[in-house]
Amino acid sequence: MITTSGDFARSLEIGVIMDAQPYPTAGQSAPHLGPRLTLRDLQEATGRGERWCMLTAYDALTAGLFEQAGVPCLLVGDSAGMVVYGYDTTVPVTVDELLPLVRAVVRGTRRAVVIADLPFGSYQASAEQALHTAAQFMKEGGAQAVKLEGGRAVLPQVEALCAAGIPVIGHLGLTPQSVNLLGGYRVQGRGEAGDRLIQDAKNLEAAGASAVVLEVVPADLAARVSDLLTIPTIGIGAGPSTDAQVLVWQDMLGLTAGPGPKFVRRYANLREPIGQAIAAWTADVAAGNYPGPEESYN
Ligand code: KIV
Repeated sequence: MITTSGDFARSLEIGVIMDAQPYPTAGQSAPHLGPRLTLRDLQEATGRGERWCMLTAYDALTAGLFEQAGVPCLLVGDSAGMVVYGYDTTVPVTVDELLPLVRAVVRGTRRAVVIADLPFGSYQASAEQALHTAAQFMKEGGAQAVKLEGGRAVLPQVEALCAAGIPVIGHLGLTPQSVNLLGGYRVQGRGEAGDRLIQDAKNLEAAGASAVVLEVVPADLAARVSDLLTIPTIGIGAGPSTDAQVLVWQDMLGLTAGPGPKFVRRYANLREPIGQAIAAWTADVAAGNYPGPEESYN
């Protein structure tokens, strides 16, 4: 049976718990909300045929909001390099820049699985390097799992992390950390490259990966991979047949400028009301209309 992510959240009691016991405000003690979900819970949901969502998050406030809305899995993506830090690509972002964001997302949530993205250059050199970086995100950041990009080249890393007890999510297809080699953000896995991607996906599963992100690949290829793997596939620009879907929240809520990639559906257009509100405030300040008596202290 296929259900929506809302049903999934309810089946895992995220929605129920959050409705019944809102987050504490300052001075209140935290209610008992149960343990955090794990990737194992998400795998079991996939086994039951339930579709679920992963959404990026980079701060405590929005992370808590997304969790309360029923998102069971939050990714502190290296996309933070672009949407938080303003780099042109995800390549420059560092562990030191991502670690505080992971901590914030963990602090802002109670139930969601928090995944930390390993940034470019922090894991490719060796299994030892990957273990060192992943341990930082788990110990200092509080993440429950890590994600890394690549196929056969990172299998030793995936094996080492899993052997150390660190759940790993793989990432195939358009791997943005390799944008300089790929020559741009284009569809991957067409033709013979599709066979290589299938083999990479199988190898990642055999190496112990808990799930695999498939980014910007043909929908029929993603469907084949999803059929072949027992672990969940998480699609972004990979059509409707993956077990889960992931998006960058600023894209799906319309905070980023322009139309964005074809696969993005804008569920809101936040850019407009935020821009209008800021313009109204600056005009009020300039005209001496803010603050008024009701916003001032005696
Ligand atoms: O960094 C990121 O946000 C990602 C997702 C888009 C999958 O890797």
